[in-house]
Amino acid sequence: MGQEIDLLIHYPKAKRNIKERGATKTEQDRAIARQFGKDFFDGDRRHGYGGFSYMERFWTPVVPTFQNQYELTSQSSILDVGAAKGFMLYDFQRLIPNITIAGIDISPYSVEHAKEEVKPFLQVANATSLPYENNSFDLVISINTVHNLEKDDLAKALQEIERVSRKNSFITVDAYRNDEEKELMYHWNLTAKTIMHVDEWKTFFNDIGYTGDYYWFIP
Ligand SMILES: C[S@@+](CC[C@H](N)C(=O)[O-])C[C@H]1O[C@@H](n2cnc3c(N)ncnc32)[C@H](O)[C@@H]1O
Repeated sequence: MGQEIDLLIHYPKAKRNIKERGATKTEQDRAIARQFGKDFFDGDRRHGYGGFSYMERFWTPVVPTFQNQYELTSQSSILDVGAAKGFMLYDFQRLIPNITIAGIDISPYSVEHAKEEVKPFLQVANATSLPYENNSFDLVISINTVHNLEKDDLAKALQEIERVSRKNSFITVDAYRNDEEKELMYHWNLTAKTIMHVDEWKTFFNDIGYTGDYYWFIP
């Protein structure tokens, strides 16, 4: 079993009125968001990010934590599952020149509009079927992505992460620790199909054989 460890400790905290945002969401908004197209990334705030551009303040302070935790060097290789426009990979590339990077995302829109420097390393694919050989990467990271799948597919995605990682992996998923957090999570959620209590997640990881590290996205 992997470690529960917060490697996103330096990710800037969002300042938002979570309940208000959730209250305005409709099933139609969710359906649009779940297409992970232009509306989700660069459309109205109601359907997702409301504009998804590279900003140094997000991943630049975060990637050194991964570098230290997993002893990454220019000889290392990393895969980002749900890489979107490749912003995190770009910051890894800047921090550790010559590191081998790869990313997949289900969204053709995000890959098409990815940061130019990392575009050649991105491809469109589903987390349930990663287009790589067994043991291809030293580290596989997946931030806020696999919870967008129903449980059966989510299990497949985690098993795929296990398969292509030769050493380490780290994921974050939507979770809650008590009723108040659960309520906030359901208000906040736009795309996730699997949201569980942290203890349920740990049992799930164990049941399906995910042995990597993990942490929670809790609003
Ligand atoms: C909340 S965004 C997170 C993006 C990025 N990891 C980050 O933290 O900024 C979720 C991402 O997962 C992608 N995604 C959703 N379902 C997916 C799937 N089944 N396989 C691969 N990517 C998926 C979406 O297109 C989107 O880019």
